[in-house]
Amino acid sequence: MSGERALLEKSGYSKKAIDYYESKLNVGEIINPDAHFSYTGPCGDTMEIFLKIESNIITDAKFRAIGCAGSYVSASSLTEMIKGKTIKEAKKFDEKDILKNLGKIPAPKIHCACLAKKTLQKAIQQYTNKKHDIQTVQQ
Ligand code: FES
Repeated sequence: MSGERALLEKSGYSKKAIDYYESKLNVGEIINPDAHFSYTGPCGDTMEIFLKIESNIITDAKFRAIGCAGSYVSASSLTEMIKGKTIKEAKKFDEKDILKNLGKIPAPKIHCACLAKKTLQKAIQQYTNKKHDIQTVQQ
């Protein structure tokens, strides 16, 4: 076991969360995303989420973060869960769903899952507003 893995395990991360962290699951940028938002949480960490959306379905999701291991595993978990889901379904995922998917993260890191949730919700909100504005102009 690598030194980093052992440290993450000792801190209280599940094997699945550690696998996500090590593989950097869904870390990256989508060029010409349909939705994109960058948000700084109360802890001072910043997350950026990119979505590709076709016929109201999220076909791809990626993120970047300036943050802790908790922010990375939470965003990996959330971006993985929303792929193939409708906008409406994706909007409903919250920190409890993120934690359930991960199995376990340290209790003080639950706000990191909230950062991922809020960033996604803001990206979706911006996408929805943009669509609404386009429809309004077309009328
Ligand atoms: Fe800020 Fe984890 S401490 S997102």
